[in-house]
Amino acid sequence: MLAIRVEKTINPKPLPEPENPLKFGTIFTDHMFIMNYETGKGWHDPRIVPYQPVVLEPSAMVFHYGQEMFEGLKAYRADDGRILLFRPDMNAKRTNHTNERLCIPKIPEEDFVQAVKELVKIDAAWIPNRKETSLYIRPFIIATDPFLGVRPSDTYLFMIILSPVGAYYPEGLNPVKIWIEDDYVRAVRGGIGEAKTGGNYVASMAAQLKAHEEGYSQVLWLDGVERKYIEEVGAMNIFFKIRGTVLTPMLNGSILPGITRNSVIALCKEWGLPVEERRISVEELYEASKNGDMEEVFGTGTAAVISPVGHLRFQDHVIQIQDGGIGELSQKLYDTVTGIQLGRIPDIRGWITEVK
Ligand code: PLP
Ligand code: COI
Repeated sequence: MLAIRVEKTINPKPLPEPENPLKFGTIFTDHMFIMNYETGKGWHDPRIVPYQPVVLEPSAMVFHYGQEMFEGLKAYRADDGRILLFRPDMNAKRTNHTNERLCIPKIPEEDFVQAVKELVKIDAAWIPNRKETSLYIRPFIIATDPFLGVRPSDTYLFMIILSPVGAYYPEGLNPVKIWIEDDYVRAVRGGIGEAKTGGNYVASMAAQLKAHEEGYSQVLWLDGVERKYIEEVGAMNIFFKIRGTVLTPMLNGSILPGITRNSVIALCKEWGLPVEERRISVEELYEASKNGDMEEVFGTGTAAVISPVGHLRFQDHVIQIQDGGIGELSQKLYDTVTGIQLGRIPDIRGWITEVK
């Protein structure tokens, strides 16, 4: 249990106007959580302070070697006013999985969840309650040793910031267009693809720009070795419904083990749908679409929620998914996942943590 010191702001910012569309990730709340690490001393001095700039040495290791990690989860305002978190224990577990790969010291899972809860409680007035809005929570860790050699840092900062958000994609629940990238790769087996770290996202930017120029909103990555098998999208995992079976790439070390992905697999299995986690080639998708067997495609993620895909492009081939509308399963998953998150559907799976 952390003994968190709290220093409240004396200059609270105005809350966003109710009609503000809350463009994703642009507004930050009044407070942040911060905690230091030093070898020999461990994690110490947990505190909640006014949201403010962080002062670092230009030689801080994070600037040079990218030793950093981040997480993403959301707080929701239920209709009855309760504040709910969706599976925060999974974010805590994934933090430590990422930390292990990046040689960052672990954080006790209960401390991670406690820090999230206490910060959300203090900035609770910032949780929006309009349709498709929530309070996005961004925990992250950076290496701070002032040192220019390559080795794990001896000092770190763990911080959490909060941002009231609307839909991640401007399309909302309308299907997005996705570009299957055949030149750049995001990650390779044995690399850091399954870690949630900035390096994976900067690796994706050139392809993202290319896709945008072609009128596509996101990139779907192929495996880095054979460039044949589907991996994931820039900010979400991907699912296909082909002839009644729900397919998603297996966790092979180079894709992010999404918490929404895990939840969607559990729900589909409960509903009696056959689910396969395996290698899926781009060829198989093309064949399925040619034969009329491709029923639905959707992405899953904290920011993206359930995001239907209407159109995929690979080289000169276009895969049009049905009529480009929202599939029945995508809609049912969206309604169920958001229903659980907002407390409208009873939490029989132990996925909800209340902040009180
Ligand atoms: N894949 C990538 C690359 C992501 O950035 C995200 C977002 O967090 C996901 C998948 C989905 O993960 P989750 O459902 O845990 O948010
Ligand atoms: C999330 O869904 O939480 C993510 O981290 C995606 C992000 C790149 C906005």
